[in-house]
Amino acid sequence: MSHDTSSLNKQRQDLSAYESVWLFGYGSLIYKVDFPYLERKPASITGWSRRFWQGSHDHRGTPESPGRVLTLIETPGEQCTGMAYRVSPEVFEHLDHREKNGYLRFFTPMQFNDGHQADGLVYIASKDNAAFLGDAPLSDIAAHIARSRGPSGENSEYLLKLSQGLRDLGVVDPHVEGIRQHLEPLLKGQE
Ligand code: SIN
Repeated sequence: MSHDTSSLNKQRQDLSAYESVWLFGYGSLIYKVDFPYLERKPASITGWSRRFWQGSHDHRGTPESPGRVLTLIETPGEQCTGMAYRVSPEVFEHLDHREKNGYLRFFTPMQFNDGHQADGLVYIASKDNAAFLGDAPLSDIAAHIARSRGPSGENSEYLLKLSQGLRDLGVVDPHVEGIRQHLEPLLKGQE
């Protein structure tokens, strides 16, 4: 599958009949909210975990030198906490463009902290997209992030803002924090 998924996403779910749609954000959608929303609240999805396994050609890297950003990997029993936004269906025009580098949108059940449930759309970059990078030792992922940058800025900013955004939600993600521990000394060395 090509890494440009914007036209594929438009054909996936017809959202025109919806008054509003829930979006589940687990990565940059937690801390970079460049879209209007009607309501937002923390939520979790089950069976998925965050991994810096997706290449970024358009935000935190370039086609010649991709950065590393998050996707979700199926992990039975795992809970992934993020931020849910209730948005107008038109907002997906912007989101499909923003998430075009390999991400497809899927409906998933979400649990809110207050016990309520709803279905929401989540952007996942699966293994068969051309920009998928896959697993690597955390120290290698950190070194990759330390040297990458793209039109949206330093790749390290993505990880550091995400780590803070997760802490604000009361979440300490071992994968994210493991990379941060390797990354911070590398960044100090670049000063
Ligand atoms: C998300 O944040 O939910 C999707 C991945 C990203 O844009 O970082």
